[in-house]
Amino acid sequence: MNKERVLSGMQSSGKLHLGNLVGALQNWVKLQDKYDCYYFVADWHGLTTGYADTSSIKEYTKDILINFLAAGLDPEKCTIFIQSRVIEHAELHLLLSMVTPVGWLERVPTYKEKQIELQDRDLSTYGFLGYPLLQTADIIIYRAKYVPVGIDQVPHLEISREIARRFNYLYKEVFPEPEALLTEFPKVVGTDGRKMSKSYDNAIYLSDDPKVVEQKIKTMVTDPARVKKTDPGTPELSPVFHLHKIFSSEEEQQEVAKGCRTAGMGCIDCKKILIKNVFKALEPIWKKRNELMNNTFLLNDIVDKGTNKAKKVAGDTMQLVRKAIGLY
Ligand code: TRP
Repeated sequence: MNKERVLSGMQSSGKLHLGNLVGALQNWVKLQDKYDCYYFVADWHGLTTGYADTSSIKEYTKDILINFLAAGLDPEKCTIFIQSRVIEHAELHLLLSMVTPVGWLERVPTYKEKQIELQDRDLSTYGFLGYPLLQTADIIIYRAKYVPVGIDQVPHLEISREIARRFNYLYKEVFPEPEALLTEFPKVVGTDGRKMSKSYDNAIYLSDDPKVVEQKIKTMVTDPARVKKTDPGTPELSPVFHLHKIFSSEEEQQEVAKGCRTAGMGCIDCKKILIKNVFKALEPIWKKRNELMNNTFLLNDIVDKGTNKAKKVAGDTMQLVRKAIGLY
């Protein structure tokens, strides 16, 4: 039986953190048994906001690939590749640009939001406006049925569906309309209580050493009302408790919540339990990361094989596309 195709990518604009792990990667790992999955590093997307300083892009790409594998993506089950190696994405992006009204791109909410968020960069570029169009090419070139994404990516997927529909209407039914496979996961908070994000300097990275992880958790913000150990607190107001909900057992969550409310447990002891559990989640990842960091040959081999496979599928689609348009 042919499995349905799933595709998703991660932009190489930074190292991966716990939020990426529990919000996306762990879900991708689950999907690889059930679907024909294609997962890639979107390094061109990294350029849309990072074009002025490309000094780290290669390092980010490698870090992301290593984390894909360390988190449990299995190259025997899914196809892992790098966007910039499958140049067919660029050809499709160009051809789609011919049929995409500029207004559609300007109306995508992330377009203005990101420009406001990243005031230090000049994002009045053509490439940045085309971000969702490139993403559309990434998806439909594999004629993928499902795209596992977080809720923030839904507008991107909506425009992908519209563009696929427009192409099919103008030329020929080539592309299925991709559907979002929503990842149900609460936002992971960072050490300061805001959403974990590389831009807030509050993230725990998968590449952090155990010592660094320990230090980051030890200095995490807690319920500000608990100045002294004898002050009772409200666990729900503490980012530490939020992470307990993800990483600790039901019993431990109850234990620390009670300890917080009754002032029976101090923040330091509560954090120690969290450190133990985050370590438990990260240890297998650290182990595999170390193996892969020292085995460039293996990593390159996996990516080469994945890229070749992706190129074949993308190339087949492009033949249909060129024909549908009437170029060949
Ligand atoms: N926009 C995604 C991110 O934020 C990356 C991405 C690029 C993507 N192309 C994609 C995701 C195609 C899903 C499908 O990292």
